Amino acid sequence: MLLLVFLLLLTLYLCIRLFVSRKSDSLTCLVGKTALVTGGNSGLGYATSALLASRGCRVIIADRDNAERTVEEIKRKTGNDQISYKYLDLSSLKLTREFANVLKKTEKKIDILINNAGIGVGAKLATEDGLNTVMQVNYFGAFLLTHLLLDLLKASDSARIMFLGSISIFSNNLTMENFNLIKKDGTTTLKDLYSNSKLCDVLAAQEFAKKLKKYGIRANSVDPGAVKTDIFRRASVIAKSRFFDTVTGVVLSICGTDSFGGAQTIFHVVTSDELRDQTGQHFSYLLRFFKPSILKDQKFCDEIWKRTEELVKLSPEERIS
Ligand SMILES: NC(=O)c1ccc[n+]([C@@H]2O[C@H](COP(=O)([O-])OP(=O)(O)OC[C@H]3O[C@@H](n4cnc5c(N)ncnc54)[C@H](OP(=O)(O)O)[C@@H]3O)[C@@H](O)[C@H]2O)c1
Repeated sequence: MLLLVFLLLLTLYLCIRLFVSRKSDSLTCLVGKTALVTGGNSGLGYATSALLASRGCRVIIADRDNAERTVEEIKRKTGNDQISYKYLDLSSLKLTREFANVLKKTEKKIDILINNAGIGVGAKLATEDGLNTVMQVNYFGAFLLTHLLLDLLKASDSARIMFLGSISIFSNNLTMENFNLIKKDGTTTLKDLYSNSKLCDVLAAQEFAKKLKKYGIRANSVDPGAVKTDIFRRASVIAKSRFFDTVTGVVLSICGTDSFGGAQTIFHVVTSDELRDQTGQHFSYLLRFFKPSILKDQKFCDEIWKRTEELVKLSPEERIS
């Protein structure tokens, strides 16, 4: 009996490993395309940048940390020297605007925008803009940046935008009240803040898709799965929770992948010819995935969108009509 249970568990484990290790079969040539990858200095952003570069794509890595070493490494590994770094700090509305202004001066178009940068936990609850730190880095910043880069995206004949979601969106507790939580309220935990920010990313992809369809711009979101990156180490340092460390340790050892494994779905959705017309969809492990039912509530999505426009201080001209 024990042997049977052991064999069943082993089979299950091997099936999971086979499933999570699948690779993108996209063979699209990306010569002539330009991609912007936020948070491209490490983890999933690094792997996505390297995969895009390996197909001849021009890649701009935007990150808070100096990524010159990463740039050199990707150039060396892929033989593609069209890789560059630009400073971006998504935790500041002003610095995000400054970054977009620099890009508008140096670039003619952006074909692929990967809103990847993210944090698990913020060292402070609020930023200098009076916004919740996790929400600002993971969602408000990406929302603002995407708006500011719209002209560059419109200049591409096939622009694709990607937002990074997470499986944790299914345990969100997002409401209009805790949407920009800047004081501890006892009902919203650190985990909820992350889940809520990721839900907003998926919501943003869905709503950008509707609003930008007329320009031929596609927007989708991805859950990259459980990926062994620094996000867990950094979150663990701040959250100081043994429970968190144990749960992430177990999950990562059963169904975790490395950054290149996690980047497969991101890469696949933004490059695959088969998925060329997909927009407003959520993907995971190379497949279309369902979303929390709250995202079917158009009134709620519109309220979040409108409030976000106000919080990131978009001018009337910058808003999508
Ligand atoms: N790992 C997973 O299992 C997993 C699962 C689901 C979703 N995701 C999502 O995947 C994305 C990438 O995460 P990861 O796992 O690759 O984590 P990571 O290795 O920690 O990478 C995050 C990147 O974002 C950058 N970043 C952080 N704050 C920033 C800011 N204020 N401005 C600009 N860049 C900033 C980081 O730069 P610094 O080095 O300067 O901090 C880093 O390069 C995140 O959106 C995350 O939510 C990850």
